[in-house]
Amino acid sequence: MTVDRLGLEGEGIASHQGRALFIPGAFPGERVRVQPEPAGKVLRGRLEDVVVPSPARRTPPCPLADRCGGCDWMHLSPETQVEEKQRLVVDALTRIGRLPAGSFDVLPTAGRGTDTGTRRRAVLHQASQGLGYFGRRSHHPVDVDTCPALLRVLAPLPGRLAAPLLPLGSSLKAVHLLAEGESVSLALALDGPVRAKAREVAATLVRAGLAQGVVLLEPQGRVEEVGRPVLQSPAPGNAGVRLRLRPDAFAQAHATGAALLVERAVDMLAPRRDDRALELYAGNGTFTFALAARVASVLAVESSALSVALASSASRAGAVANVRWVQGEAGRVSEGLVREGVRFDVLLADPPRTGAPKLGALARNLGVRRLVYVGCDAGSLARDAGRLVESGFRPEVLQLVDLFPNTHHVEAVLAFSA
Ligand SMILES: C[S@@+](CC[C@H](N)C(=O)[O-])C[C@H]1O[C@@H](n2cnc3c(N)ncnc32)[C@H](O)[C@@H]1O
Repeated sequence: MTVDRLGLEGEGIASHQGRALFIPGAFPGERVRVQPEPAGKVLRGRLEDVVVPSPARRTPPCPLADRCGGCDWMHLSPETQVEEKQRLVVDALTRIGRLPAGSFDVLPTAGRGTDTGTRRRAVLHQASQGLGYFGRRSHHPVDVDTCPALLRVLAPLPGRLAAPLLPLGSSLKAVHLLAEGESVSLALALDGPVRAKAREVAATLVRAGLAQGVVLLEPQGRVEEVGRPVLQSPAPGNAGVRLRLRPDAFAQAHATGAALLVERAVDMLAPRRDDRALELYAGNGTFTFALAARVASVLAVESSALSVALASSASRAGAVANVRWVQGEAGRVSEGLVREGVRFDVLLADPPRTGAPKLGALARNLGVRRLVYVGCDAGSLARDAGRLVESGFRPEVLQLVDLFPNTHHVEAVLAFSA
């Protein structure tokens, strides 16, 4: 097959008998040999051999790149990754979102630094020998000893944690790693109630200096903390505040790029001093405190009780007086605000991969002048952008920030005016 282009999930796409054939690991322009997979709704093929490689294909900086599901574009040169991500997002906005081509400016992609050693969080599972990541398009973990995608302090942990975690056997479902600077925190997801063995293992990890704290997670949501698992990090754009991070709550994955993302998103919102801002999907406050430093007030909405607790504690410690935190579902809270007749000047939304389908109508009913959408899934961003346009918003500027090197993932910031 000859690969024509890359799809939204990062796979190569070739044309086969008039249908799209998806080939993970193949890149545009390549001539490849493919083993077809049993036909489902979507035609897929397993890459057998690259007969004529793309000039952008490189030797990946990780020996596991062919099998590990973590970095699906590691064989692609960093420059081409950036170009392809921009093409994917712009293509999704015009094709899926039906935004007219040329109706918004596209800024040069930001955050193009080193392509390894940048991730500050990861989830590991038990593999055949120790711990590992899920394999390509599979839930079978691939054993990992060292992971070059992670920050230096985390990179050797997959191998180093295997022996101390052995006593937990199959009761250990997953290990969440998180780092801030040189500090490491872990969460161990268990398959049942926390028992003495788990507490012992967690205490051993802390004593051995492998982590400054461990969270033990029960399936029903009860947790126990051992040591000091809450890490602190300077809040982007607000020198007085330190964000609180815990490995079982959402945190931006790129160690340094998040500050750039926040700076660009808040600038693109063009807030005024006396603005009332609404922030939906606020997490632990990554954007919130930077926004609060530029406007009169922020109402920050987030569904995770843990994230709201972490953010509220950061607010209190930093004496931030103009942010109100609401724990709840973004759509329902916004509908309540519309019913109460509350109005906002600007809105910042950073939804999960599934997007925010009602955002257009809600933003219109909340009277916002300007809106910034931060999205990590090009398809959801495009669908939601289409609905925002239907609701009367005009897309103006697109800024990509490359927070996920060596993968097809990218963070996109799209600014709209009413
Ligand atoms: C992509 S994260 C962004 C978090 C935050 N803006 C940050 O950068 O740290 C999405 C956040 O939305 C929250 N979330 C998911 N679904 C939600 C919903 N329906 N309503 C409110 N928050 C939701 C998640 O808990 C998560 O914190």
